[in-house]
Amino acid sequence: MSFGGLMALNNFSLALAPGELHGLIGPNGAGKTTVFNVLTGFYQPTEGEMLLNGIRLNGLSPPAISRLGIARTFQNIRLFEELSVLENVLVPLHGRSRLPVWQAVLRTPGFWREERRARDQAWELLARLALQPYAREPAGRLPYGLQRRLEIARALAARPQLLLLDEPAAGLNPQESAALMSLLSALQQEYSLTILLIEHNMKFVMHLCERLTVLDHGLIIAQDAPAAVRTDPRVIRAYLGADGSA
Ligand SMILES: Nc1ncnc2c1ncn2[C@@H]1O[C@H](COP(=O)(O)OP(=O)(O)OP(=O)(O)O)[C@@H](O)[C@H]1O
Ligand SMILES: [Mg+2]
Repeated sequence: MSFGGLMALNNFSLALAPGELHGLIGPNGAGKTTVFNVLTGFYQPTEGEMLLNGIRLNGLSPPAISRLGIARTFQNIRLFEELSVLENVLVPLHGRSRLPVWQAVLRTPGFWREERRARDQAWELLARLALQPYAREPAGRLPYGLQRRLEIARALAARPQLLLLDEPAAGLNPQESAALMSLLSALQQEYSLTILLIEHNMKFVMHLCERLTVLDHGLIIAQDAPAAVRTDPRVIRAYLGADGSA
């Protein structure tokens, strides 16, 4: 992926096994978020190919990619702040509806059935993420840590196979971060998710992920199990600065 003269991602290559929890790490500006923007159709890659279960994603719109099973959260939380917590989770559920628009306009029995199903699913997700007590509150008024969790609930509402999490613990205190990480690993099992996780906290990443991809200036400098990545000289150099002194 290049932006004008800038190669944000160069020869990027990654194959995720179903059910894998894969960490995507690297210094600021390395290209991590760009991977998500390309995978979700926000940017069209300059070159290369993306496949989900053999289906080519290149050229598809973000909603089309979402329907195929990729959901994401954002580094800077993006919620509908004026909508309630419940409504935020309902939006992607409605987005999945296959009901013809006229049924919604005419409020047919089919519409109400679908509506009820969506609400049940939304409540179930809120309960799972312990957000039920806040269901009627505007999302923008939730404390920061709960907004982070609501973003995950909303992403799960799209019933993804692949969940992309962009620094889900950013801005959380150590206790909140630890709780979120164990929640993520539980959710991965329960929802049979494949997860690509961008996270700066090395302790979490090393502990949670089966494999890691390390980016630096748009290039993969390591792709291996955490134990191998931890001791990789290129990785250490990228994190500590060229002379290792920073
Ligand atoms: N739309 C864009 N137009 C031009 N340059 C971009 C665009 N999006 C990203 N970049 C550039 O691509 C590079 C990688 O950015 P990216 O946001 O992917 O980094 P990152 O690894 O997520 O960093 P951080 O840890 O700070 O979130 C940066 O140099 C950034 O300025
Ligand atoms: Mg980023």
